[in-house]
Amino acid sequence: MAAVSRRTFLTLGGIGGALVVTGGTGLIWDGLNNAAPVTASTGGAAFTEPPVLRSASGLLDVALTASRSRIVVGGTTVSAMTYNGSLPGPTLVVRPGDRVKITLANHLGEPTNLHTHGLHVSPEGSSDNVFRQVETATTADYEYQIPDDHPAGAFWYHPHHHGMTAEQVFAGLYGAILVERDDHIAVTRQRLLVISDITFDSAGEVAVTSQMDRMAGREGQIMLVNGQVAPVLDAKPGDFERWHVVNACTSRYLSLTLDGAILSLQGNDGSRLAAPRQVSTIDLVPGARADVLVTVPAGAVDLLADPVDRGSAGSMMVGAPRSTSMVTLARMRVSGEPAAVPQTATLAPPPLPLRDLRTETLTGSRTLTLAMGAAGMGMGGGGMMQFTIDGHTFDPNRVDQSVARGAIEEWMLVNTSTMDHPFHLHVWPMQLLATGGTTESEAVWRDVVNVPANSRVRVRIAFEDFTGTSVYHCHILDHEDGGMMGIIAVA
Ligand code: C2O
Ligand code: CU
Ligand code: CU
Repeated sequence: MAAVSRRTFLTLGGIGGALVVTGGTGLIWDGLNNAAPVTASTGGAAFTEPPVLRSASGLLDVALTASRSRIVVGGTTVSAMTYNGSLPGPTLVVRPGDRVKITLANHLGEPTNLHTHGLHVSPEGSSDNVFRQVETATTADYEYQIPDDHPAGAFWYHPHHHGMTAEQVFAGLYGAILVERDDHIAVTRQRLLVISDITFDSAGEVAVTSQMDRMAGREGQIMLVNGQVAPVLDAKPGDFERWHVVNACTSRYLSLTLDGAILSLQGNDGSRLAAPRQVSTIDLVPGARADVLVTVPAGAVDLLADPVDRGSAGSMMVGAPRSTSMVTLARMRVSGEPAAVPQTATLAPPPLPLRDLRTETLTGSRTLTLAMGAAGMGMGGGGMMQFTIDGHTFDPNRVDQSVARGAIEEWMLVNTSTMDHPFHLHVWPMQLLATGGTTESEAVWRDVVNVPANSRVRVRIAFEDFTGTSVYHCHILDHEDGGMMGIIAVA
Protein backbone atom coordinates (compact mmCIF):
# COMPACT_ATOMS: atom_id res chain seq x y z
CA MET A 1 0.00 0.00 0.00
CA ALA A 2 1.17 3.46 -0.73
CA ALA A 3 -0.16 6.77 0.46
CA VAL A 4 -1.25 8.91 -2.44
CA SER A 5 0.22 12.35 -2.07
CA ARG A 6 -2.11 15.16 -1.17
CA ARG A 7 -1.38 16.71 -4.53
CA THR A 8 -2.52 13.74 -6.53
CA PHE A 9 -5.77 13.16 -4.70
CA LEU A 10 -7.14 16.32 -6.23
CA THR A 11 -6.79 14.89 -9.68
CA LEU A 12 -8.20 11.55 -8.62
CA GLY A 13 -11.21 13.03 -6.90
CA GLY A 14 -13.54 12.34 -9.78
CA ILE A 15 -13.12 8.58 -9.83
CA GLY A 16 -16.36 7.07 -8.64
CA GLY A 17 -17.25 10.10 -6.60
CA ALA A 18 -15.54 11.42 -3.54
CA LEU A 19 -16.12 12.62 -0.07
CA VAL A 20 -15.54 16.29 0.26
CA VAL A 21 -14.69 18.09 3.45
CA THR A 22 -16.94 21.08 3.85
CA GLY A 23 -16.65 24.17 5.94
CA GLY A 24 -14.54 22.34 8.43
CA THR A 25 -17.43 20.58 10.09
CA GLY A 26 -18.76 17.80 7.98
CA LEU A 27 -18.83 15.71 4.92
CA ILE A 28 -20.93 15.74 1.84
CA TRP A 29 -21.18 13.29 -0.96
CA ASP A 30 -20.49 14.90 -4.29
CA GLY A 31 -23.44 13.24 -5.91
CA LEU A 32 -21.96 10.96 -8.54
CA ASN A 33 -23.84 8.10 -6.99
CA ASN A 34 -27.51 7.83 -6.13
CA ALA A 35 -26.94 7.46 -2.43
CA ALA A 36 -27.57 10.34 -0.06
CA PRO A 37 -25.20 11.76 2.51
CA VAL A 38 -25.97 11.44 6.17
CA THR A 39 -25.83 15.21 5.95
CA ALA A 40 -23.37 17.98 5.56
CA SER A 41 -22.26 19.99 8.59
CA THR A 42 -23.06 17.20 10.92
CA GLY A 43 -19.64 16.89 12.49
CA GLY A 44 -18.34 18.80 15.45
CA ALA A 45 -19.99 16.95 18.31
CA ALA A 46 -17.85 16.16 21.33
CA PHE A 47 -15.86 12.94 20.95
CA THR A 48 -17.45 9.98 22.70
CA GLU A 49 -16.48 6.37 23.23
CA PRO A 50 -18.64 3.26 23.21
CA PRO A 51 -19.94 1.96 26.56
CA VAL A 52 -17.37 -0.10 28.47
CA LEU A 53 -17.97 -3.60 29.88
CA ARG A 54 -15.07 -4.44 32.17
CA SER A 55 -14.13 -7.74 33.78
CA ALA A 56 -14.10 -8.10 37.56
CA SER A 57 -12.40 -10.79 39.65
CA GLY A 58 -11.20 -12.59 36.53
CA LEU A 59 -14.59 -12.80 34.80
CA LEU A 60 -16.39 -10.83 32.13
CA ASP A 61 -19.92 -12.13 31.66
CA VAL A 62 -21.91 -10.09 29.16
CA ALA A 63 -24.86 -10.23 26.80
CA LEU A 64 -24.54 -8.91 23.26
CA THR A 65 -27.72 -8.45 21.27
CA ALA A 66 -27.30 -8.08 17.52
CA SER A 67 -30.26 -6.28 15.99
CA ARG A 68 -31.34 -3.72 13.45
CA SER A 69 -31.62 -0.43 15.30
CA ARG A 70 -32.43 3.20 14.70
CA ILE A 71 -29.44 5.27 15.71
CA VAL A 72 -28.23 8.81 15.20
CA VAL A 73 -25.21 9.28 12.95
CA GLY A 74 -24.03 12.78 12.18
CA GLY A 75 -27.25 14.25 13.56
CA THR A 76 -29.49 12.10 11.36
CA THR A 77 -31.55 9.11 12.42
CA VAL A 78 -30.64 6.08 10.34
CA SER A 79 -30.94 2.28 10.49
CA ALA A 80 -27.92 0.15 11.13
CA MET A 81 -27.03 -3.20 12.65
CA THR A 82 -25.78 -2.84 16.19
CA TYR A 83 -24.67 -4.73 19.25
CA ASN A 84 -26.72 -3.58 22.24
CA GLY A 85 -28.07 -0.65 20.25
CA SER A 86 -24.74 1.11 20.01
CA LEU A 87 -22.39 1.72 17.10
CA PRO A 88 -19.68 0.57 17.67
CA GLY A 89 -20.80 -2.09 20.12
CA PRO A 90 -19.62 -1.95 23.74
CA THR A 91 -15.89 -2.11 24.43
CA LEU A 92 -14.93 -5.28 26.29
CA VAL A 93 -12.06 -4.62 28.71
CA VAL A 94 -10.29 -7.69 30.07
CA ARG A 95 -6.98 -8.74 31.60
CA PRO A 96 -4.72 -11.70 30.83
CA GLY A 97 -6.00 -14.80 32.62
CA ASP A 98 -9.64 -13.68 32.51
CA ARG A 99 -12.54 -15.86 31.52
CA VAL A 100 -14.94 -14.18 29.08
CA LYS A 101 -18.54 -15.30 28.62
CA ILE A 102 -20.62 -13.72 25.89
CA THR A 103 -24.26 -14.57 25.36
CA LEU A 104 -25.01 -13.55 21.79
CA ALA A 105 -28.68 -12.99 21.01
CA ASN A 106 -29.42 -12.75 17.30
CA HIS A 107 -32.35 -10.49 16.39
CA LEU A 108 -31.06 -9.63 12.92
CA GLY A 109 -33.54 -11.68 10.90
CA GLU A 110 -30.61 -13.58 9.35
CA PRO A 111 -27.82 -15.85 10.64
CA THR A 112 -24.70 -14.46 12.25
CA ASN A 113 -21.93 -15.51 14.64
CA LEU A 114 -19.05 -13.97 16.57
CA HIS A 115 -15.28 -13.76 16.09
CA THR A 116 -12.73 -12.26 18.51
CA HIS A 117 -10.21 -10.88 16.04
CA GLY A 118 -6.58 -11.21 17.15
CA LEU A 119 -7.21 -12.91 20.48
CA HIS A 120 -4.90 -15.87 21.08
CA VAL A 121 -7.65 -18.21 22.30
CA SER A 122 -8.95 -21.64 21.32
CA PRO A 123 -10.75 -21.81 17.94
CA GLU A 124 -12.84 -24.78 19.07
CA GLY A 125 -16.23 -25.49 20.62
CA SER A 126 -17.86 -22.39 22.04
CA SER A 127 -14.61 -20.39 21.95
CA ASP A 128 -13.47 -18.47 18.83
CA ASN A 129 -15.20 -20.90 16.48
CA VAL A 130 -16.21 -19.16 13.24
CA PHE A 131 -17.85 -22.30 11.88
CA ARG A 132 -20.75 -21.91 14.29
CA GLN A 133 -23.92 -20.46 12.90
CA VAL A 134 -26.27 -18.54 15.15
CA GLU A 135 -29.73 -18.55 13.58
CA THR A 136 -31.99 -15.58 13.90
CA ALA A 137 -34.18 -15.51 16.99
CA THR A 138 -31.73 -17.76 18.81
CA THR A 139 -29.08 -17.23 21.45
CA ALA A 140 -25.59 -18.72 21.60
CA ASP A 141 -23.10 -18.90 24.46
CA TYR A 142 -19.47 -18.14 23.74
CA GLU A 143 -16.76 -18.69 26.32
CA TYR A 144 -13.08 -17.76 26.04
CA GLN A 145 -10.11 -18.32 28.32
CA ILE A 146 -7.56 -15.52 27.88
CA PRO A 147 -4.08 -16.99 28.55
CA ASP A 148 -2.06 -15.59 31.46
CA ASP A 149 0.67 -14.50 29.05
CA HIS A 150 -1.70 -12.87 26.55
CA PRO A 151 -0.27 -9.61 25.17
CA ALA A 152 -1.89 -6.27 25.96
CA GLY A 153 -3.40 -4.11 23.28
CA ALA A 154 -6.46 -3.52 21.14
CA PHE A 155 -8.39 -6.37 19.54
CA TRP A 156 -11.95 -6.43 18.23
CA TYR A 157 -15.03 -8.54 17.68
CA HIS A 158 -17.23 -8.83 14.61
CA PRO A 159 -19.46 -11.39 12.85
CA HIS A 160 -17.80 -14.03 10.67
CA HIS A 161 -20.63 -15.86 8.97
CA HIS A 162 -19.23 -16.78 5.55
CA GLY A 163 -20.92 -14.86 2.76
CA MET A 164 -22.43 -12.27 5.12
CA THR A 165 -19.40 -10.92 6.94
CA ALA A 166 -18.90 -7.82 4.80
CA GLU A 167 -22.61 -6.91 4.88
CA GLN A 168 -22.89 -7.25 8.64
CA VAL A 169 -19.64 -5.46 9.52
CA PHE A 170 -20.37 -2.66 7.05
CA ALA A 171 -23.83 -2.26 8.58
CA GLY A 172 -22.34 -1.63 12.02
CA LEU A 173 -21.52 -4.89 13.81
CA TYR A 174 -18.12 -4.38 15.44
CA GLY A 175 -16.71 -3.46 18.81
CA ALA A 176 -13.30 -3.23 20.49
CA ILE A 177 -11.68 -5.60 22.96
CA LEU A 178 -8.93 -4.12 25.11
CA VAL A 179 -6.57 -6.45 26.90
CA GLU A 180 -5.04 -4.46 29.74
CA ARG A 181 -1.75 -5.15 31.44
CA ASP A 182 0.03 -2.54 33.53
CA ASP A 183 2.84 -1.15 31.41
CA HIS A 184 3.71 1.82 33.63
CA ILE A 185 3.20 4.55 31.08
CA ALA A 186 2.05 7.78 32.65
CA VAL A 187 -0.46 9.27 30.23
CA THR A 188 -2.87 12.16 30.64
CA ARG A 189 -5.66 10.01 29.21
CA GLN A 190 -6.37 7.04 27.00
CA ARG A 191 -8.72 7.08 24.08
CA LEU A 192 -10.20 4.42 21.86
CA LEU A 193 -10.82 5.29 18.21
CA VAL A 194 -12.77 2.70 16.24
CA ILE A 195 -12.65 3.89 12.66
CA SER A 196 -15.22 2.59 10.20
CA ASP A 197 -17.00 3.56 7.01
CA ILE A 198 -20.60 3.18 5.93
CA THR A 199 -23.02 4.40 3.27
CA PHE A 200 -26.67 5.28 3.85
CA ASP A 201 -29.28 5.59 1.11
CA SER A 202 -31.81 8.39 0.95
CA ALA A 203 -34.18 6.42 3.20
CA GLY A 204 -31.51 6.23 5.89
CA GLU A 205 -30.94 2.51 5.38
CA VAL A 206 -27.49 1.03 4.88
CA ALA A 207 -27.01 1.24 1.12
CA VAL A 208 -26.93 -1.86 -1.05
CA THR A 209 -23.44 -2.50 -2.43
CA SER A 210 -23.04 -3.13 -6.14
CA GLN A 211 -21.28 -6.21 -7.48
CA MET A 212 -18.52 -3.98 -8.86
CA ASP A 213 -17.93 -2.39 -5.46
CA ARG A 214 -17.82 -5.81 -3.83
CA MET A 215 -15.14 -6.91 -6.22
CA ALA A 216 -13.04 -3.84 -5.52
CA GLY A 217 -13.90 -4.06 -1.83
CA ARG A 218 -16.56 -1.58 -0.79
CA GLU A 219 -15.61 1.73 0.78
CA GLY A 220 -18.30 3.65 2.58
CA GLN A 221 -19.16 7.22 1.69
CA ILE A 222 -18.85 8.47 5.23
CA MET A 223 -16.14 7.69 7.70
CA LEU A 224 -16.87 7.38 11.39
CA VAL A 225 -14.82 7.56 14.56
CA ASN A 226 -16.68 5.68 17.30
CA GLY A 227 -19.80 6.07 15.17
CA GLN A 228 -19.43 9.85 14.95
CA VAL A 229 -18.77 12.13 12.00
CA ALA A 230 -15.72 14.35 12.60
CA PRO A 231 -15.97 14.54 16.42
CA VAL A 232 -13.98 17.07 18.45
CA LEU A 233 -11.39 15.90 20.98
CA ASP A 234 -10.55 18.33 23.77
CA ALA A 235 -7.03 18.49 25.19
CA LYS A 236 -4.45 20.81 26.70
CA PRO A 237 -1.13 21.60 25.08
CA GLY A 238 1.49 19.11 26.22
CA ASP A 239 -1.04 16.45 27.18
CA PHE A 240 0.32 12.97 26.60
CA GLU A 241 -2.34 10.51 25.41
CA ARG A 242 -2.45 6.88 24.44
CA TRP A 243 -4.76 6.03 21.56
CA HIS A 244 -5.95 2.57 20.68
CA VAL A 245 -6.88 2.82 17.00
CA VAL A 246 -8.91 0.08 15.29
CA ASN A 247 -9.48 -0.12 11.53
CA ALA A 248 -12.96 -1.66 11.41
CA CYS A 249 -13.55 -0.59 7.80
CA THR A 250 -14.79 -3.37 5.54
CA SER A 251 -12.13 -2.71 2.89
CA ARG A 252 -10.58 0.72 3.35
CA TYR A 253 -6.88 1.06 4.06
CA LEU A 254 -6.06 3.86 6.50
CA SER A 255 -3.11 6.20 6.42
CA LEU A 256 -3.67 8.62 9.29
CA THR A 257 -1.88 11.87 10.05
CA LEU A 258 -2.12 14.33 12.93
CA ASP A 259 0.20 17.06 11.69
CA GLY A 260 1.62 19.13 14.51
CA ALA A 261 1.33 16.43 17.16
CA ILE A 262 4.15 14.06 17.99
CA LEU A 263 3.07 10.48 17.27
CA SER A 264 4.96 7.54 18.72
CA LEU A 265 3.95 4.05 17.73
CA GLN A 266 3.90 1.79 20.76
CA GLY A 267 2.85 -1.35 18.91
CA ASN A 268 0.41 -3.03 16.54
CA ASP A 269 -2.10 -5.87 16.78
CA GLY A 270 -1.20 -6.64 20.39
CA SER A 271 2.55 -6.60 19.91
CA ARG A 272 4.87 -4.00 21.40
CA LEU A 273 7.91 -2.42 19.81
CA ALA A 274 11.08 -2.62 21.91
CA ALA A 275 10.67 1.14 22.39
CA PRO A 276 8.01 3.54 21.07
CA ARG A 277 9.05 4.88 17.67
CA GLN A 278 8.19 8.31 16.34
CA VAL A 279 6.13 8.11 13.15
CA SER A 280 4.51 10.58 10.76
CA THR A 281 1.60 8.35 9.71
CA ILE A 282 -0.38 5.52 11.24
CA ASP A 283 -0.94 2.92 8.53
CA LEU A 284 -3.64 0.34 9.16
CA VAL A 285 -4.95 -2.23 6.72
CA PRO A 286 -8.51 -3.47 7.36
CA GLY A 287 -8.66 -5.34 10.67
CA ALA A 288 -5.37 -3.92 11.97
CA ARG A 289 -4.85 -1.91 15.15
CA ALA A 290 -2.23 0.49 16.48
CA ASP A 291 -1.39 1.73 19.96
CA VAL A 292 -0.09 5.26 19.57
CA LEU A 293 1.29 7.79 22.05
CA VAL A 294 0.25 11.32 21.16
CA THR A 295 1.91 14.49 22.45
CA VAL A 296 -0.61 17.30 21.98
CA PRO A 297 0.80 20.52 20.46
CA ALA A 298 -0.39 24.05 21.13
CA GLY A 299 -3.18 24.88 18.70
CA ALA A 300 -5.73 22.79 16.87
CA VAL A 301 -4.85 19.68 14.88
CA ASP A 302 -6.87 17.51 12.57
CA LEU A 303 -6.82 13.74 12.33
CA LEU A 304 -6.82 13.11 8.60
CA ALA A 305 -7.21 9.96 6.56
CA ASP A 306 -5.14 10.26 3.40
CA PRO A 307 -6.18 8.30 0.33
CA VAL A 308 -4.33 5.02 -0.12
CA ASP A 309 -3.64 3.33 -3.43
CA ARG A 310 -4.39 -0.36 -2.91
CA GLY A 311 -4.12 -1.27 -6.54
CA SER A 312 -6.76 -1.92 -9.12
CA ALA A 313 -8.14 -4.84 -11.00
CA GLY A 314 -6.43 -3.77 -14.17
CA SER A 315 -8.58 -4.38 -17.21
CA MET A 316 -10.87 -6.72 -15.33
CA MET A 317 -14.45 -5.92 -14.53
CA VAL A 318 -13.89 -4.46 -11.14
CA GLY A 319 -14.38 -0.92 -9.99
CA ALA A 320 -11.31 0.96 -8.92
CA PRO A 321 -10.74 0.91 -5.17
CA ARG A 322 -12.11 4.20 -4.13
CA SER A 323 -10.14 5.97 -1.47
CA THR A 324 -9.42 9.06 -3.52
CA SER A 325 -9.76 12.06 -1.27
CA MET A 326 -8.55 13.15 2.09
CA VAL A 327 -11.10 12.96 4.91
CA THR A 328 -11.10 14.80 8.22
CA LEU A 329 -11.81 12.06 10.75
CA ALA A 330 -11.65 14.17 13.90
CA ARG A 331 -10.37 17.49 15.15
CA MET A 332 -8.44 18.18 18.27
CA ARG A 333 -9.36 21.41 20.05
CA VAL A 334 -6.43 22.42 22.20
CA SER A 335 -6.86 25.00 24.92
CA GLY A 336 -5.93 25.83 28.48
CA GLU A 337 -2.65 26.12 30.31
CA PRO A 338 0.09 23.92 28.92
CA ALA A 339 0.68 20.81 30.99
CA ALA A 340 3.47 21.74 33.42
CA VAL A 341 6.00 19.24 32.12
CA PRO A 342 5.49 17.72 28.71
CA GLN A 343 5.30 14.07 29.59
CA THR A 344 6.84 12.71 26.43
CA ALA A 345 9.79 11.49 28.43
CA THR A 346 7.72 9.43 30.84
CA LEU A 347 8.01 6.32 28.76
CA ALA A 348 7.73 2.83 30.05
CA PRO A 349 10.65 0.64 30.95
CA PRO A 350 11.40 -1.60 27.97
CA PRO A 351 8.93 -4.48 27.73
CA LEU A 352 10.02 -8.09 27.76
CA PRO A 353 12.08 -8.86 24.68
CA LEU A 354 9.89 -9.88 21.77
CA ARG A 355 10.14 -13.43 20.58
CA ASP A 356 12.03 -13.67 17.29
CA LEU A 357 11.27 -16.83 15.31
CA ARG A 358 14.31 -16.18 13.10
CA THR A 359 16.41 -17.53 15.94
CA GLU A 360 14.32 -20.69 16.34
CA THR A 361 14.26 -23.96 14.44
CA LEU A 362 11.84 -24.10 11.52
CA THR A 363 9.80 -27.25 11.18
CA GLY A 364 8.30 -26.53 7.77
CA SER A 365 7.41 -24.02 5.14
CA ARG A 366 4.64 -23.50 2.65
CA THR A 367 3.55 -21.08 -0.05
CA LEU A 368 0.04 -19.68 -0.35
CA THR A 369 -0.95 -17.89 -3.54
CA LEU A 370 -3.62 -15.19 -3.53
CA ALA A 371 -5.14 -14.61 -6.95
CA MET A 372 -7.97 -12.94 -8.79
CA GLY A 373 -9.29 -14.17 -12.08
CA ALA A 374 -12.36 -14.27 -14.26
CA ALA A 375 -14.79 -16.97 -13.16
CA GLY A 376 -15.57 -19.72 -15.68
CA MET A 377 -17.98 -18.77 -18.42
CA GLY A 378 -21.36 -20.44 -18.44
CA MET A 379 -21.33 -20.74 -14.67
CA GLY A 380 -23.69 -17.83 -14.33
CA GLY A 381 -20.66 -15.78 -13.48
CA GLY A 382 -19.82 -14.25 -16.81
CA GLY A 383 -17.64 -11.22 -16.22
CA MET A 384 -17.41 -11.98 -12.52
CA MET A 385 -14.21 -12.04 -10.61
CA GLN A 386 -13.10 -14.97 -8.50
CA PHE A 387 -10.96 -14.51 -5.43
CA THR A 388 -8.87 -17.58 -4.70
CA ILE A 389 -6.13 -18.94 -2.47
CA ASP A 390 -4.07 -21.67 -4.16
CA GLY A 391 -6.61 -21.79 -6.96
CA HIS A 392 -9.63 -22.51 -4.76
CA THR A 393 -12.46 -20.48 -3.39
CA PHE A 394 -13.49 -21.22 0.20
CA ASP A 395 -15.04 -24.62 0.88
CA PRO A 396 -16.21 -25.23 4.46
CA ASN A 397 -15.68 -28.97 3.94
CA ARG A 398 -12.06 -28.83 2.76
CA VAL A 399 -9.03 -28.51 5.03
CA ASP A 400 -6.42 -26.54 3.11
CA GLN A 401 -3.51 -26.62 5.54
CA SER A 402 -2.81 -29.32 8.11
CA VAL A 403 -0.25 -28.27 10.70
CA ALA A 404 1.15 -30.12 13.70
CA ARG A 405 0.70 -28.43 17.04
CA GLY A 406 4.01 -26.89 18.07
CA ALA A 407 5.20 -26.41 14.49
CA ILE A 408 7.18 -23.29 13.61
CA GLU A 409 6.61 -22.60 9.94
CA GLU A 410 7.61 -20.07 7.33
CA TRP A 411 4.81 -19.05 5.00
CA MET A 412 5.43 -17.30 1.71
CA LEU A 413 2.31 -15.32 0.80
CA VAL A 414 2.32 -14.66 -2.93
CA ASN A 415 -0.07 -12.16 -4.52
CA THR A 416 -0.36 -12.57 -8.29
CA SER A 417 -3.15 -10.01 -8.61
CA THR A 418 -3.11 -6.29 -9.30
CA MET A 419 -4.71 -5.38 -5.97
CA ASP A 420 -3.26 -5.50 -2.47
CA HIS A 421 -4.78 -8.11 -0.13
CA PRO A 422 -4.52 -7.84 3.69
CA PHE A 423 -3.87 -11.43 4.81
CA HIS A 424 -5.24 -12.42 8.22
CA LEU A 425 -4.69 -15.61 10.20
CA HIS A 426 -6.87 -16.39 13.19
CA VAL A 427 -5.56 -17.44 16.63
CA TRP A 428 -1.82 -17.61 15.85
CA PRO A 429 -0.01 -14.29 15.24
CA MET A 430 2.46 -13.94 12.38
CA GLN A 431 5.99 -12.57 12.59
CA LEU A 432 6.52 -10.43 9.50
CA LEU A 433 9.96 -11.06 8.00
CA ALA A 434 9.86 -9.36 4.62
CA THR A 435 7.55 -7.57 2.21
CA GLY A 436 8.80 -7.74 -1.36
CA GLY A 437 12.49 -6.86 -1.10
CA THR A 438 12.15 -5.10 2.26
CA THR A 439 13.32 -7.13 5.24
CA GLU A 440 12.33 -6.28 8.80
CA SER A 441 15.24 -5.78 11.16
CA GLU A 442 13.17 -5.94 14.35
CA ALA A 443 10.77 -8.64 15.44
CA VAL A 444 7.49 -7.37 13.96
CA TRP A 445 4.31 -9.24 14.91
CA ARG A 446 0.95 -8.82 13.19
CA ASP A 447 -2.34 -10.64 12.80
CA VAL A 448 -3.02 -8.94 9.46
CA VAL A 449 -0.21 -8.34 6.96
CA ASN A 450 -0.53 -6.47 3.71
CA VAL A 451 0.45 -8.51 0.66
CA PRO A 452 0.99 -5.86 -2.03
CA ALA A 453 -0.15 -6.34 -5.61
CA ASN A 454 2.22 -8.55 -7.63
CA SER A 455 4.45 -9.05 -4.65
CA ARG A 456 5.14 -11.47 -1.83
CA VAL A 457 5.42 -11.45 1.93
CA ARG A 458 7.34 -13.81 4.20
CA VAL A 459 6.05 -14.58 7.71
CA ARG A 460 6.80 -17.12 10.43
CA ILE A 461 4.21 -18.60 12.73
CA ALA A 462 4.47 -20.67 15.92
CA PHE A 463 1.41 -22.94 16.03
CA GLU A 464 1.40 -23.26 19.78
CA ASP A 465 -1.02 -23.49 22.70
CA PHE A 466 -4.15 -24.57 20.81
CA THR A 467 -5.35 -27.23 18.44
CA GLY A 468 -8.42 -27.04 16.25
CA THR A 469 -9.74 -25.80 12.95
CA SER A 470 -9.74 -22.16 12.00
CA VAL A 471 -9.31 -19.88 8.99
CA TYR A 472 -7.05 -17.45 7.18
CA HIS A 473 -8.37 -14.96 4.67
CA CYS A 474 -8.19 -11.61 2.96
CA HIS A 475 -9.50 -8.97 5.39
CA ILE A 476 -11.09 -7.01 2.57
CA LEU A 477 -14.28 -8.61 3.80
CA ASP A 478 -15.90 -8.61 0.36
CA HIS A 479 -12.99 -10.73 -0.85
CA GLU A 480 -13.35 -13.05 2.14
CA ASP A 481 -17.05 -13.49 1.35
CA GLY A 482 -16.08 -13.89 -2.32
CA GLY A 483 -14.03 -16.96 -1.42
CA MET A 484 -10.53 -15.71 -0.57
CA MET A 485 -10.40 -17.80 2.59
CA GLY A 486 -8.97 -21.19 3.54
CA ILE A 487 -9.13 -23.61 6.44
CA ILE A 488 -6.25 -24.56 8.69
CA ALA A 489 -6.38 -27.56 11.02
CA VAL A 490 -3.82 -27.70 13.82
CA ALA A 491 -3.61 -31.09 15.51
CU1 C2O B 1 -11.34 -9.87 11.58
CU2 C2O B 1 -11.42 -13.67 10.19
O1 C2O B 1 -11.42 -11.75 10.89
CU1 CU C 1 -9.81 -12.54 12.83
CU1 CU D 1 -8.43 -9.15 -1.00
